[in-house]
Amino acid sequence: MEKRLIIAIDGPAASGKSTTARRLAQKLGYVYLDTGAMYRACALKAKQTGLALGDEEAVRAMLDKLDIEIKLDGEENVILLDGKDVSGAIRTNDISRLSSDISALPAVRYKMVELQRRLGSRGGVILDGRDIGTFVFPDADIKIFLTATDEIRARRRWLELKHKGVHASLDNVSEELRERDKNDSARELAPLAKAADAIEVDTSAMNVEEQAEAIYGIVKARMAGI
Ligand code: CDP
Repeated sequence: MEKRLIIAIDGPAASGKSTTARRLAQKLGYVYLDTGAMYRACALKAKQTGLALGDEEAVRAMLDKLDIEIKLDGEENVILLDGKDVSGAIRTNDISRLSSDISALPAVRYKMVELQRRLGSRGGVILDGRDIGTFVFPDADIKIFLTATDEIRARRRWLELKHKGVHASLDNVSEELRERDKNDSARELAPLAKAADAIEVDTSAMNVEEQAEAIYGIVKARMAGI
């Protein structure tokens, strides 16, 4: 039987990781795991409870009681916080910013990474995030690092929000992505970074279909050699 691999897809905000990972999971019959959604759910909990991120004890108490469940069904991820589906509520601009701040806290990362490793260790999985190939699964079988220019990424996210009925100016979206990337790259523990053995793909000139095809081609070629 074919080995069920661990595939890591990392990259900056709105570089197309989740679309690519979802398509790939569909084509390979793998499970998709959206690790960003976990940090977002954590951020939502922090917001609901008015958590002060600088208060270590309060953060620990929050983590002890944290009830995040992620239901994996092929390429679909449903995120439950305290038993409630929050898949939509975690996609706001507010939560994006807060997720970046909260994900820099080591206690938060260790807790989320433990869950990610537990869910992914059996293979047959595609994880997308910032530190999958460098920290969560440094021995992942295939590592992809997606990039696109700042302008293209901002535009893609702006369109995505618009389709969801969220009105934000292109400038605001652009600013939010820039700040978050800076924050994610600068944190001490497991920052956003390309693993030395990751294949970097610039998707600036590709549409969704082309991007999905390109990555599928790379993955198939690598699989043939494993
Ligand atoms: O979809 P988008 O690329 O905008 O963000 P996301 O993947 O949902 O991640 C939201 C935030 O969670 C990021 O800005 C990171 O701060 C954090 N994150 C992380 O630290 N490590 C990961 N493996 C995934 C996300």
